[in-house]
Amino acid sequence: MSLNVYNPSGYIFNRNLQGSIRLNYQHFLMTQLTGNELLHKSTKELVDVSTPLRVADIATGTAIWPLSLARAYPHWQIDGFDISNAQYPFAASIPANVSLYEHNTFQPFPVEYHGKYE
Ligand SMILES: C[S@@+](CC[C@H](N)C(=O)[O-])C[C@H]1O[C@@H](n2cnc3c(N)ncnc32)[C@H](O)[C@@H]1O
Repeated sequence: MSLNVYNPSGYIFNRNLQGSIRLNYQHFLMTQLTGNELLHKSTKELVDVSTPLRVADIATGTAIWPLSLARAYPHWQIDGFDISNAQYPFAASIPANVSLYEHNTFQPFPVEYHGKYE
């Protein structure tokens, strides 16, 4: 039995509670290690963060980054996309400036999303 068969449709991690805790823990670890910055400094040099921006997060997982961005930049609209919505938070806990979609990034995005993001 081989353990290294490449499965392009599979996901090697679990999408259960432990999988979500792992992703969120990694997010907070990386954020803490980078001075509590949610954006790379080169991004901040490129855009005026005080203006209303629309941001896409591809392969968003638990949407922990969109949710964190939404708190830090309440005047932004953040759209998260993932091939599975299994790790998305409860709809009632998603702030109004975050939208989450189930979408395979290797498939074309509907035309209404083209040219909409910073
Ligand atoms: C390691 S997780 C990262 C999640 C998140 N970006 C984070 O940093 O916490 C990878 C994510 O990619 C998603 N993913 C894998 N293939 C994808 C595809 N073809 N289209 C969209 N999402 C995909 C998985 O479902 C998973 O949620």
